[in-house]
Amino acid sequence: MSSKDKVAVVTGGTGGIGTEICKRLSQEGAKVIALAYSMKDEEIKQWQETNGSDIEVKLTNVADAEDSAKVMNEILESYGKVDILVNCAGITRDTTFKKMTAQQWGDVIDTNLNSVYNVTQPIWNSMLENKFGRVINISSINGQRGQFGQANYSAAKAGMHGFTMALAYEGAAKGVTANTISPGYVETAMTAAMREDVRDMIVSGIPMKRMGQPEEIASAVAYLAADESTYITGANLPVNGGLFIH
Ligand code: CAA
Repeated sequence: MSSKDKVAVVTGGTGGIGTEICKRLSQEGAKVIALAYSMKDEEIKQWQETNGSDIEVKLTNVADAEDSAKVMNEILESYGKVDILVNCAGITRDTTFKKMTAQQWGDVIDTNLNSVYNVTQPIWNSMLENKFGRVINISSINGQRGQFGQANYSAAKAGMHGFTMALAYEGAAKGVTANTISPGYVETAMTAAMREDVRDMIVSGIPMKRMGQPEEIASAVAYLAADESTYITGANLPVNGGLFIH
């Protein structure tokens, strides 16, 4: 597999899963730009020392259309192209729907779903013109099957795959693929923040009897992003240890 000399942008690029995606795409030969929401200069320096000094970190709020367009256009100007875009930024505001506020609904829809418009739209035409592109949307098992306490998150994550499928049609004749990866429960700060009893109950129901590792999502991304993955588009690849098989 190779992504040699490709330019890759990863939103949520310094998060639990995003960091491993950046590292892996860099190993495959891509120039990687990680988009992060808010980090101090010192934190960025530390992150780069740990994960790769050749990975550029840029700050942007992907929930904000103007800010995202500005940053994506800067990347296009600096590197001349974006070959691989991984939409990985995401948040949770878990609560039962009866208690869910408009703010909790809106924050998750803005960050997890509207962000894919904000970040993808500014570079989409250039992918079509270059006749090469890989858009990979990191959704969730909970977008495929729903989850108690995640009406907002499940709606956003299901929406991401609807977006993938439509985009796949529009890119197909131009060598641009669009695919979704739907991780199950992966060991990150996001799952660590869950109530312990709820998390233990969910993990005990995973056929592989363990959570996933971020590297296991990154390897699926590397596969879909690779130059060789020319004929896979519109797919939703589950990486969930067997938790949802359908
Ligand atoms: N199905 C049906 N009923 C359920 C249920 C379920 N899955 N889970 C809980 N209930 C019931 C409980 O038994 C309880 O019933 P009683 O009132 O009769 O006792 C009632 O619903 C309330 O349950 P909780 O005590 O859990 O409610 P809470 O308000 O304290 O907590 C919650 C709500 C915070 C949303 C909690 O349920 C929760 O954490 N749920 C899991 C959410 C989740 O999976 N988040 C994933 C985060 S990681 C991620 O999102 C990454 C990814 O992509 C996978």
